[in-house]
Amino acid sequence: MKYLHAVPVLLLLLVVTDTYATEKTKKHKKYRRKPASAPNPVENEVKIEEDDEKAAGMPPLAAGGDIVEDSKVPLIDPCLEVHCGAGRVCQVDETGEPDCVCIPNCPVETESRRKVCSNHNETWTSDCAIYQQRCLCDKGDDKCKGPQYKHVHIEYYGECRDMPECTKEEMADFPRRMRDWLFNIMRDLADRQELTPHYLNLEREAESNMTRRWTNAAIWKFCELDGHPPDRSVSRHELFPIRAPLMSLEHCIAPFLDSCDIDDNHRITIKEWAKCLELQEDEIEDRCEEITEPDEGE
Ligand SMILES: *[C@@H]1O[C@H](CO)[C@@H](O)[C@H](O)[C@H]1NC(C)=O
Ligand SMILES: *[C@@H]1O[C@H](CO)[C@@H](O)[C@H](O)[C@H]1NC(C)=O
Repeated sequence: MKYLHAVPVLLLLLVVTDTYATEKTKKHKKYRRKPASAPNPVENEVKIEEDDEKAAGMPPLAAGGDIVEDSKVPLIDPCLEVHCGAGRVCQVDETGEPDCVCIPNCPVETESRRKVCSNHNETWTSDCAIYQQRCLCDKGDDKCKGPQYKHVHIEYYGECRDMPECTKEEMADFPRRMRDWLFNIMRDLADRQELTPHYLNLEREAESNMTRRWTNAAIWKFCELDGHPPDRSVSRHELFPIRAPLMSLEHCIAPFLDSCDIDDNHRITIKEWAKCLELQEDEIEDRCEEITEPDEGE
C-alpha cells in the first residue's frame, strides 16, 4: 500500500525535476549542448501537432494532472513531449490540448546567487521570475507590471551591480584571453567526449598544429553560437550563452562582444569574429558542421 501511495508523488517529482533539468540544461548550454539535439521553437510547434494526433485517440485526461489512479491503462499526458519556452509551462486546456501558459509560481529562491540582473538594471529573484514577467506582459495579463517588461531579459546572472569600466589595457588584452578561453573550453569538451566527430576533428587539428589552435576554437564557437537559425551570422540573441553568464565575472565581455559587431548591424559574421579575436582573416573559414537533418522547418 505504501508503494502505491508513492506513485503519484514520484510522478509529480519526475515532472518537477524534469522542468528543472530543462532550465538547467539551458543555463549550461555552453558546456552541454550537442548542437544537433537542442530543441528549437519550430520543432516544438511540430511536436505539439504530432502530440495532438497521438492524443486524439486517447481517453481524455483528468484535469488535475494526477493521472495515474488505480487504472492499469497508462494514459499519455499530451504535455509530456511539449517543451514550452522559458517562463512557460504546459497545461492541458479544456479541449484536452496542450497549451503553453505563463508559469503560475516560480520556485521560491532564497539563495542570492540565483538572482539575475535585467536589461533595466533591476535585480530579480531568479531567471524564472524574469521570464514569467515577460510571458505575463506578452499575454496581456494584469500581473504585467508595465509595457516596458514585454521585452525584459537577463542582462547577466547575479545581482545588479556597478559594473567596473573595462579599461583600455584590459580591453587590449581581452582578445588573447578570449581565444585562450575558447580553446580551453573546446579541449575540455573534447576530453569529456561532448563534441561531435566534426568538431572533434577541429579540436585534434588545434592540438597538433599551433597555428590552428585559436582559429579552430574560434570557428567552433562561432558555429555553436550560430545555432538558431544557422545562418552563418551570430545575432545578439545568439550571443546570450557567452554573454550573460560571464558578465559578472568578466566586465569586459559586453564591450568586447559589442566591438565585434564592426558594422553595428547587430550581427557578427565569421570575418568580424576573426577580426575581434585578432586572428588572421584568411585563416578562418566556414567550417561549420552541416546540419543534415532532413527538414529544419524553415
Ligand atoms: C545598476 O544598479 C546597481 C545596483 O543598484 C548600481 O550600483 C549601478 O550603478 C546601476 N548601473 C547603472 C548603469 O545604472
Ligand atoms: C598548420 O596549419 C597551417 C594553417 O592552416 C597550415 O598551413 C600548415 O600546413 C599546418 N601544418 C601542419 C603540420 O599540418
